[in-house]
Amino acid sequence: MFDNVSKFGITSRAFNNNICSLKKYNPRDFVSDPYRRIDDTPFGGDPGMVMKIEPLELALNKATTEQQELGSNKPLKVYLSPQGKKVNQQMINDLSKHDGIIFVCGRYEGVDERFIERNIDLEISLGDFVVSGGEIPAMMVIDAIIRQLDGALGHEDSAVADSFMNGLLDYPHYTKPRVYEGVEVPEVLLSGDHKQIEKWRLKMSLWRTYQRRPELLEERDLNKIEYGLLAELVNQLDPKG
Ligand SMILES: C[S@@+](CC[C@H](N)C(=O)[O-])C[C@H]1O[C@@H](n2cnc3c(N)ncnc32)[C@H](O)[C@@H]1O
Repeated sequence: MFDNVSKFGITSRAFNNNICSLKKYNPRDFVSDPYRRIDDTPFGGDPGMVMKIEPLELALNKATTEQQELGSNKPLKVYLSPQGKKVNQQMINDLSKHDGIIFVCGRYEGVDERFIERNIDLEISLGDFVVSGGEIPAMMVIDAIIRQLDGALGHEDSAVADSFMNGLLDYPHYTKPRVYEGVEVPEVLLSGDHKQIEKWRLKMSLWRTYQRRPELLEERDLNKIEYGLLAELVNQLDPKG
């Protein structure tokens, strides 16, 4: 599954350029029984299976030792879980500063709770929905972290304008053709006037955030210029102000 991040696009380039590295550990390689079972029935009854503690802990210990050998003193142990703290850009930025992270991906009904209590530093969730395994959530988080690493993106600035990086949603983007089925690209983007383009982009970011995610504006103190631009837009829409 992890070929998705290790073999394609920006993330694969980052691995090839040694900006970061990724190693995978399969808990099945840490069991001695011939069926390589890593799950068992839950105490107390219930449908579904639970991941056993021992193979997980052996795999985690191996990953920890190998990360330490690579120079990460105390790798952060993160469990992907719908019950965790919801991931946002701020969390990604913080995670990107760690020199080593181990992501534990659950399956079935999840993992034996004692494994979490004994080993995990942080539980994180991709949102209030349940997927079948932690691998896809882990890949999303790994991709988002790599975007924040120095030198990972071709154009150094490309992450700066991304949504959430400055607490606002991104502005709309356009490319050729200039007119498509009668629909034109906004005039200002063709003007070559970089100051006006910057102003338009900031306005669009503010407007999008106001319309789609107003709670983000409450979390972020707008400066005088931003406030003025947004007020202008709101007033244009509602002449009463
Ligand atoms: C079917 S889920 C288990 C859900 C668990 N019974 C619960 O309700 O909390 C199997 C695994 O998928 C991963 N997972 C599911 N939803 C997730 C989410 N929203 N965010 C992160 N990981 C998730 C976790 O690693 C979890 O152990």
